[in-house]
Amino acid sequence: MTPATRAVPGRRSRWTGATVAAVEGLTRDVRRLELQFDEAVERSAPGGHVDVLIDVRGRLERRSYSVVEWRGTGRAVIAVKQLTAGRGGSVAMHALVPGDRLTVSRPEHLVGLTLDAPAHLLVAGGIGITALVGMARALAVRGGPLRLLYAVRTREEAPFLDQLRDLLGPRLELHCSAEGRRLTFPAAFADLPPGGLAYVCGPLLMQEAMRVAWEESGREPRHLRSETFGSSGSFPEEAFTVRVPRLGVEIDVPSDRSVLAALQDAGVEMIAECERGECGLCVLPVLAAEGLLDHRDVFLSARQKQAGDVFCTCVSRAVGGALTLDTFDR
Ligand code: FES
Repeated sequence: MTPATRAVPGRRSRWTGATVAAVEGLTRDVRRLELQFDEAVERSAPGGHVDVLIDVRGRLERRSYSVVEWRGTGRAVIAVKQLTAGRGGSVAMHALVPGDRLTVSRPEHLVGLTLDAPAHLLVAGGIGITALVGMARALAVRGGPLRLLYAVRTREEAPFLDQLRDLLGPRLELHCSAEGRRLTFPAAFADLPPGGLAYVCGPLLMQEAMRVAWEESGREPRHLRSETFGSSGSFPEEAFTVRVPRLGVEIDVPSDRSVLAALQDAGVEMIAECERGECGLCVLPVLAAEGLLDHRDVFLSARQKQAGDVFCTCVSRAVGGALTLDTFDR
């Protein structure tokens, strides 16, 4: 989890081997996978994640998945939603079967769960629930005021729903848009007492809506924590051209490739760490944009995104034309 507007850079991943021990379908497009590490690893705190190197059309790519639960000393349970319009990682993850081998990072967490708050509010949108299941379990054991708001389109598309209902009872509130019960802000956190902590994980637009309402309500920004997942933006992925005049580079960025990866493929030396739009290390100045910028990070401020003069290359995209970037003098 990361603070809503600024994030602490993650530790550089340290890789090890793991075997896919079990696969189970949870919903039409979400699969649960148990990854058995080759060695005993230290469990991540609730809200932690593992990175997986997955073969996407012949190229090894890194994807991050929240650890939903731990089994024994070295078995992490993750859940993956297949995104048909994504960059291919989820399709490759869904093709895994028991016995397959993977390279996996040791578990990490960027910002741990703070237990000693007067109350906790967890807000999940869709597959974002995976980051919050472990937190809900830890907070339920601790006791104290807790609510989990779970926004989905239909209840059939809500993984872990039965498990969470058993765990939380009436403290779980399901918001199904297909049933006319949408999650709205600031209503979602109106009952949270002063000093209460909120953790949100869901599509970027939902997180932004909550962050704006949170700040407008006068609550402390540090009491809202959020995590990105996937690459949800405001527009579908499309191919575009990136130019870097300072380096004499012009490259095509396919719809299933990040700007960061495309620049690296072209031999441009880049600095990056999280590859989730959180640490800001891959940000480059924008010199010109023919179309729109689809900012998908949680690192840049709303003001920076509106100004459009910097761009987070690991997750953000251009829409409707070429993008001209500069490099920082480093
Ligand atoms: S690598 Fe961290 S924001 Fe891009």
